[in-house]
Amino acid sequence: MQYTTLGRTGMKVSVAGLGCGGFSRLGLSNGHSKTHAIGIIRSALDAGVNLIDTAAVYGTEEVVGAALRDVDRDSVVVCTKASKPPEDATFDADKIVSSLDESLRRLQLDHVDLFQVHAVPPSAYDHVRNTVVPALLREREKGKFRFLGITETSPNDIEQTMVGNAAQDDVWDTVMLAFHMMHQVARQQSFPHTIANRIGTLLMFVVRGIFARPAELKAAMAELAAAGKVPASLTDADDSLGFLVHPGGASSITDAAYRYVRHEPGVDVVLFGTGSVEHLRTNIASILKPALPEEDRRTLHTLFGHLRGVGLVAPPSR
Ligand SMILES: NC(=O)c1ccc[n+]([C@@H]2O[C@H](COP(=O)([O-])OP(=O)(O)OC[C@H]3O[C@@H](n4cnc5c(N)ncnc54)[C@H](OP(=O)(O)O)[C@@H]3O)[C@@H](O)[C@H]2O)c1
Repeated sequence: MQYTTLGRTGMKVSVAGLGCGGFSRLGLSNGHSKTHAIGIIRSALDAGVNLIDTAAVYGTEEVVGAALRDVDRDSVVVCTKASKPPEDATFDADKIVSSLDESLRRLQLDHVDLFQVHAVPPSAYDHVRNTVVPALLREREKGKFRFLGITETSPNDIEQTMVGNAAQDDVWDTVMLAFHMMHQVARQQSFPHTIANRIGTLLMFVVRGIFARPAELKAAMAELAAAGKVPASLTDADDSLGFLVHPGGASSITDAAYRYVRHEPGVDVVLFGTGSVEHLRTNIASILKPALPEEDRRTLHTLFGHLRGVGLVAPPSR
């Protein structure tokens, strides 16, 4: 494993972080057992992953707690999140604090290392900043969490307005944001600010459905070509990103996806979500490989650098 510093938190974190949400939820979404989910977490720890990201809404905090029961607490960076209940008009400070308490109970921990306000749209940012943050800072005084972060709702904020603002504010230690081969907006909108202000970054949506399922990529590419946003020639082959797979280049599209983001200036932790031990191993291997050849990176920039919001479909649990 390789380790880096998570921005101004100063925490030493693995460059590959285990995401316990997304489509797979450690395999729970696909009918796997809690024992299987615990096994995924243990395999990640065995591979040197020391950052585990979960959330109140994922339904995986209990398995994270169970997996960590006999693990040295200081050896792992535990991150969780609280979101706005869908039926509420806006984020409520008391509910966010209750959510934190419930998360600690489910995780069986007295504190988390990173507590994040989850999926904040641009329209709610000022409210969160002015009413939720002061309440959370009081909870931090009580020792319930060490660092404060915020995460975007990527499908609803394709220009990354919220992260762009938050990264210029002085209260957030980290941001969680989308960045991938066909959604590169963070390069202009977010990373210049996170780098300047030493805000730690956690990447999500690196593979998602679009680079995991060939049919999804094919459909997305056809739609983009029809709209004149990518060259029609990309839809000729069955595998439109096949040009990335070659000796000296990527070994697969998912390999390309991880290697593309991992070496981008401003990226600290690449989250990967999986319910498969085999995928866990190949994903970590990809994240640890060198950058894609410069020519392939340039081609991805030329072809897709202008795209916004491609492949950001939300799973039920965000
Ligand atoms: N707003 C937010 O705060 C927010 C939103 C979304 C996600 N997140 C965080 O980000 C983490 C990452 O989730 P993500 O949704 O961005 O998804 P992701 O990790 O980019 O992709 C996960 C999907 O790709 C598949 N996959 C993974 N590795 C693969 C491989 N080697 N080959 C083929 N398929 C592969 C997984 O299925 P398998 O199970 O079959 O591997 C799963 O369906 C989440 O767990 C969560 O912690 C946060």
